[in-house]
Amino acid sequence: MAGTLEWISSAVLEYRITLMLVLAATVMVYFMTRKRYKFPPGPRGLPLLGNILAIQDKSLYRMLVQLEKKYGPVITLDLGPIRCVFLNNVEVIQEAFVGKSVDFAGRPQTFSALAFSEGGKDIAFSDYGPTWQLHRKLALRALKYYMKGERFQDTIAEVMEFVTVEMGKETGSFDIYNYFNLAIFNIISKICFNEKFSSDNEEFLRVCEGLDTFSTDAGNGFLEDVFPPLRIYPTAKFRKFMKINDEVLDFIYKRINAHRETFSADTQRDFTDAMLIAQKEAEEEEDPELLAQITNTHLGQTVADVFGAGLDTSRQTLYWTALYLAAYPEVQAKLHAEVDSVLGERRVPMLSERHMLPYTNAVLYESMRRGTVAPLSLPHSTTCDTTVAGYEIPKGTMVMANIYAIHHDPRHWKEPEVFNPERFLDDSGRFASNCESWMPFSVGKRACMAESLAKPELHVLLASFMRSFEIRLPDGVTPDLEPEGSFSRMPNRYQVVIKKRFA
Ligand code: HEM
Repeated sequence: MAGTLEWISSAVLEYRITLMLVLAATVMVYFMTRKRYKFPPGPRGLPLLGNILAIQDKSLYRMLVQLEKKYGPVITLDLGPIRCVFLNNVEVIQEAFVGKSVDFAGRPQTFSALAFSEGGKDIAFSDYGPTWQLHRKLALRALKYYMKGERFQDTIAEVMEFVTVEMGKETGSFDIYNYFNLAIFNIISKICFNEKFSSDNEEFLRVCEGLDTFSTDAGNGFLEDVFPPLRIYPTAKFRKFMKINDEVLDFIYKRINAHRETFSADTQRDFTDAMLIAQKEAEEEEDPELLAQITNTHLGQTVADVFGAGLDTSRQTLYWTALYLAAYPEVQAKLHAEVDSVLGERRVPMLSERHMLPYTNAVLYESMRRGTVAPLSLPHSTTCDTTVAGYEIPKGTMVMANIYAIHHDPRHWKEPEVFNPERFLDDSGRFASNCESWMPFSVGKRACMAESLAKPELHVLLASFMRSFEIRLPDGVTPDLEPEGSFSRMPNRYQVVIKKRFA
């Protein structure tokens, strides 16, 4: 017993010494880097903690809009030992992400990102380099293949018909989010696995719930990223998120393994098959370098990225759109008039009819602007010493684009808080998206890989939804159009009442 106690107290002592050494090293690095570079300005933080306490539980993207008034469009905040530079207007984002695209194309290799992506083996969190390039290229090729011909159109039409029937059964007020989940989940699972899920399928419900927790409870990140000692004894929050991550990955790997058993290189059924074909080609080439970049883990992570990224942003965009339509009945009336005149008796438009539905497109664009589901996009990292707006940014610095600020910049948007689709139409009612301060998919080398898939998909879903239903808030309910949020921004859950527009 005495031996055990001695061992525990020496272990505690050792732990404290390690902690002090880590903190001392952090302070040294902090002051050394601060001296050498002409960093962008920002509020002074506390020693060691930096500005981390000031941003806890706050909508950082909104706080930055206030800070911009004092410090200008490029702001430095210290998140514990991690120095982060925030870009808050379109000019500086263009200069960095487009003008110096490679300099700003890295991803920070934080502890949490590496843990969730099994060592940065995915697309979204992997650092700039050949493996990221390869997987982005393979994934883009597979998505383009899927979008060719009638396949994508048929998938959306089939899913929408089924979801419309399900939603039409609702009588009182209900949360429409569940139906957007069902629609987007089924489209992305058809693309990835050629598989359909019913609304009461256990796996569907569990994966959606898990991804929801990621969006709503991740807050402003994980303490493990900024305080290395916590990695030895992770917080309850981090452990909870690792468990969810494992569950979502189980769902993905289970399907990839089933695909392997029935796989034939001559028939490409879906995205997973496309990735298996790429792996087989690499095996046949017997190129060890290529094989090391397309292991089973890389393959699983790429499928997981497309599945997760495709699901979350799209369903949240539709959830915002439905809220705006319920809150602005005059916009909804115009949308109804447009879809009725173009679709006639049909319920689902063709992808090729997008240009004939300009008001629908304008509603979607305005919803993506005002809603901004990824207000701080994903974090970037500098791949070399570089500059922005005359300030110096060393290699390896975390950089974030404040898309929310860009979408609400009064220099570019008149009355930015107002939901007004007309801003995307010209005088003759034609669609005119000529504002450079609109970038929900971000810009540059790391911009969203699937903008050309997401926009037509959401357009068809919105038009079909409006063709079939009228939507309103329950009597006496005022919509909450400015919820608190952090790295993701979706409306607080709300209820609606719908009325069928057909018998
Ligand atoms: C409304 C829909 C969507 C929005 C608003 C959106 C937005 C974004 C944003 C802001 C980023 C980060 C860009 C950056 O770091 O600068 C991103 C990255 C990404 N998105 Fe999307 N996205 C949408 C739909 C999709 C869909 C449908 C897919 C897949 C089918 C997808 C796959 C990805 C991937 C893989 C990345 C990581 C790209 C990289 O790091 O190279 N997204 N998206």
